[in-house]
Amino acid sequence: MNADERVIRTYGRRSGHKLRPGRQNLIDTLLPRLRVNIPQAGTLDPAALFPTTPSAVWMEVGFGGGEHLAAQAAAHPDVGLIGCEPFINGVASLLSHIETAGLKNVRVYDDDARDVLEALPDGSLDRLFILFPDPWPKARHHKRRLIGPGNLDLLARVLADGAELRFGSDHMDYVRWALWHLLEDDRFEWLARRPGDWRVRPDDWPPTRYEEKALAKGDACVFLRFRRRPR
Ligand SMILES: C[S@@+](CC[C@H](N)C(=O)[O-])C[C@H]1O[C@@H](n2cnc3c(N)ncnc32)[C@H](O)[C@@H]1O
Repeated sequence: MNADERVIRTYGRRSGHKLRPGRQNLIDTLLPRLRVNIPQAGTLDPAALFPTTPSAVWMEVGFGGGEHLAAQAAAHPDVGLIGCEPFINGVASLLSHIETAGLKNVRVYDDDARDVLEALPDGSLDRLFILFPDPWPKARHHKRRLIGPGNLDLLARVLADGAELRFGSDHMDYVRWALWHLLEDDRFEWLARRPGDWRVRPDDWPPTRYEEKALAKGDACVFLRFRRRPR
């Protein structure tokens, strides 16, 4: 489904300030080489997106400026990472990280992540990151939340048995909402055993820009890790 045809939109603006020439050049030259093309029919083979078969495929939905995605890609060169983000300034920022670090294992979809998720085969993702997603605080907008009843079937379908879903947020109403929906769904298992497991960001979870903004304001952040239970 084309994002413009979607009834429920989960993101805000698609562009911000005009891109600097260097960033625009990355959009014009690097993005076409890294862009994920969704097949008109059939499924998208995620492993085939990368020059060599990756040991695992991870995806980040709404990567913002791309700092977390780029750090994960650098730390795990054997893993293939797919990043999805409709905000073009964020895409340009990720491309800049990719170019600077010479990353070979990142592919980019500059639109609604649900297009990619819907095209992926069952059980094809080993890890999914949804970090500081738009909280959509008004009750009438809750249906736009990425973690929620409207998307859990899709997420459960594409995650491999034992795959990890990571969700971070500083918006406590969204945290409660996400916990409520994930805990009552027996396809997901919360991996926390003690408060430190969700109050403290794990070492292998690099910070994002929105986390840093929240901490600068003095807001607490929550880090949730769920496992896709075996089918
Ligand atoms: C609040 S920002 C957080 C960005 C980043 N994850 C961070 O923590 O700094 C949420 C991002 O999710 C993106 N987003 C929202 N819905 C999306 C969707 N359906 N597919 C891909 N990205 C989406 C928005 O464009 C926005 O950049």
